Amino acid sequence: MDLQALEQELKSCQSCPLRGDAIAPVGWYGDPHSPIVFVGEGPGGVEDDYGCPLIGPSGQLLDKALWAVKMTRDRVLTTNVIKCRPQNNRTPDIAEADFCAKMWLERELEIIQPKVVVALGSVALHFLGNPNMRITRDRGQWFRTRQGFDCIATYHPAYLLRLTGRQLVAAKWDVFHDLEAARARTLQLAPDCKLMSEEKTDLFKLFKKRVNDYL
Ligand code: URA
Repeated sequence: MDLQALEQELKSCQSCPLRGDAIAPVGWYGDPHSPIVFVGEGPGGVEDDYGCPLIGPSGQLLDKALWAVKMTRDRVLTTNVIKCRPQNNRTPDIAEADFCAKMWLERELEIIQPKVVVALGSVALHFLGNPNMRITRDRGQWFRTRQGFDCIATYHPAYLLRLTGRQLVAAKWDVFHDLEAARARTLQLAPDCKLMSEEKTDLFKLFKKRVNDYL
């Protein structure tokens, strides 16, 4: 099975109640052969509208951070632990995350076989690592996922968007160093890969609002 076939299957997923509150599942975006995969939490309102992961405010901040470490969204792959937006953007619980990710995220990673996985925030860290891990304590440390992929966690961009002042500056530097470490490991394991295009990827040019398609 390839990613395209998996995406077709994902489109018709009705396997859990989260599907009922979303327009439709949101899959992944980027280079299907990327050696590095970024895993967020789950789609928010903008992602649900456009059918693209990490396209809203968190995604815009992620794009800036990636640009700072010489990566662009078209050259990497971004995805989420859960595929359907929970009502009111609430955080999915561990059982919901586990159920969805075993069905989709694990299969995506199995197909992609990335050299490096980056967990963005606690939900991704809890699924890719284990629920006892803490983002504030364990970010920036390499570990192996259950599937055997090299993984590093960093703060979710939505967390940065809630900070101000010194806390924000410190957290931004942490993210910068974590992303640099992820890039260095990727280039070490896949020396020929190209992680940056000449221009930032404009996701709003590539994706159109999909609300009406599903009404
Ligand atoms: N949008 C996503 O696609 N993922 C997140 O984790 C947050 C916002």
